[in-house]
Amino acid sequence: MRHRLSNTIIHGEASESLKALPSECVDLVVTDPPYLVNYRDRDGRTLANDDNPQAIADVFSEVGRVMKPNSYCVSFYGWTGLYDFARIWRACGLRPVGHFVWCKNYTSKATFAQYRHESAFLLAKGRPALPERPIPDVQPWTYSGNKAHPTEKAVSVIEPLIASYSAPGALILDPFLGSGTTAVAAAKLGRRYIGMELERRYCEHAMQRLYALDTEQGKAA
Ligand SMILES: C[S@@+](CC[C@H](N)C(=O)[O-])C[C@H]1O[C@@H](n2cnc3c(N)ncnc32)[C@H](O)[C@@H]1O
Repeated sequence: MRHRLSNTIIHGEASESLKALPSECVDLVVTDPPYLVNYRDRDGRTLANDDNPQAIADVFSEVGRVMKPNSYCVSFYGWTGLYDFARIWRACGLRPVGHFVWCKNYTSKATFAQYRHESAFLLAKGRPALPERPIPDVQPWTYSGNKAHPTEKAVSVIEPLIASYSAPGALILDPFLGSGTTAVAAAKLGRRYIGMELERRYCEHAMQRLYALDTEQGKAA
């Protein structure tokens, strides 16, 4: 089945959903895969595939195919899974060209250190043009509250990435969409989006957020 190529949320397993997209159609990937840490929050909420590097590899293998030549992918990751992520990105032809850190003003966990940062790699397929307005690789963190999703990112964390590494009208893909943050940030910035998510409840939440944004933007126009 072919999917509409913009402003779509697809419920399902992303490596399968991605097969419906033509090669080299996506301008920018911004994504936040499971960190491979067997995450469980205080309420007992867990993440699908958070113990399954092969599932993440299968998705990225399709991501590499659908990215346009000479384009960027920003991928969050968990540093304890660095070796897995490095292998996965290399296998799909993505090369690190930058590394972002978000500094938190609270400790997520304290064992060997107080863990207080999030990180993402800026990855290149081919040789993309340099951004007109590169952003600092140390970024301010905003806590989302994790209400709808156990590892939800704030829209304000994602917006600068989309603004810097894509142009208005660009097609942005997030194959691990969760509660819809990347799609909301893309829509706010006048980009098109395709989001994919395994869990129906998060797809539904993402659609509600996008509907609310649409209504808000309609009122403002
Ligand atoms: C770290 S969360 C993303 C959170 C998101 N950034 C947000 O702001 O809500 C990763 C998401 O990927 C989803 N997921 C895991 N494996 C998947 C797969 N193979 N295909 C599609 N979604 C998947 C999980 O259900 C989870 O919601």
